Amino acid sequence: MISLQVLFQEYSKKLQSIYSKQEAESLVFWLFEEFLGKKRMDILKNDTLEKIPSDLSLAIEKLVEGMPIQYIFGKAPFYGREFEVSPAVLIPRNETEELVHLIIKENPIEGLRILDIGTGSGCIPITLDLEMNAPVLFGIDISEEALEIAQRNALLLQSKIEFSQLDILKDDLSFKDMDIIVSNPPYVRHSEKELMHTNVLAHEPHLALFVYDDDPLLFYRIISQKAKISLKPGGKLYFEINEALGIEIINLLNDEGYKEVKLLTDLNNRDRFIAAVF
Ligand SMILES: C[S@@+](CC[C@H](N)C(=O)[O-])C[C@H]1O[C@@H](n2cnc3c(N)ncnc32)[C@H](O)[C@@H]1O
Repeated sequence: MISLQVLFQEYSKKLQSIYSKQEAESLVFWLFEEFLGKKRMDILKNDTLEKIPSDLSLAIEKLVEGMPIQYIFGKAPFYGREFEVSPAVLIPRNETEELVHLIIKENPIEGLRILDIGTGSGCIPITLDLEMNAPVLFGIDISEEALEIAQRNALLLQSKIEFSQLDILKDDLSFKDMDIIVSNPPYVRHSEKELMHTNVLAHEPHLALFVYDDDPLLFYRIISQKAKISLKPGGKLYFEINEALGIEIINLLNDEGYKEVKLLTDLNNRDRFIAAVF
């Protein structure tokens, strides 16, 4: 018989090679719940196991190699729902939930037409579709693999989104009469790599994360220019941004002729979002 407490100690010690003690313990709690159906209470009561399931041992090996737990489970939470994820898509972040919340709160009107640029797992348009008042949603991404995941998420969560493949840097935007364009584009500068955890660097798609240091505003500039063809007059643009580039993006949007440009902070008081009106 294997003691859950002994196994818990063994696994959290292993994971402390790359995680803090607190992070390692939370990961083991999460694994036990997922693979063994055991909760904290069961560990406290020191339940026993006859044998360790092979998928649990494999998950520990992958975690020690730095794979994010969401990729191991193939799912990640976002705004109260579970989204399928794979290494082809960015793991949805808490800040992006805040961006989505802002859009929902500021736009109660029925039937809005909304485009998400760089949709990844589809977490933004699917959540907006399910939380807003009968909107019409479109999502684009350069990555076919990401779009397949986004389509599956829409199907699983019973949301209707029109997804299409498009390279925003090269292709024209043929969407018209949009009320809202939202984007969480790649915004991490290569020079910021050393500040990132190895599990993000080694496992999340670089296509979703990085932009070159010599032009960190590339996506914001192109999107704000192309959005003008797709937005209705009075339509809104929402961006998630690199907290270090707030002022530059405000200036860019003012130069492009947008009005009411505002910089917003996340729950940690960091400059993370920009909203503007066309
Ligand atoms: C930071 S991720 C955001 C993913 C998702 N919207 C989210 O918030 O979790 C950026 C996304 O932009 C996509 N992307 C990168 N370059 C692109 C391009 N040139 N045209 C369209 N999409 C692009 C990536 O594939 C990735 O899915």
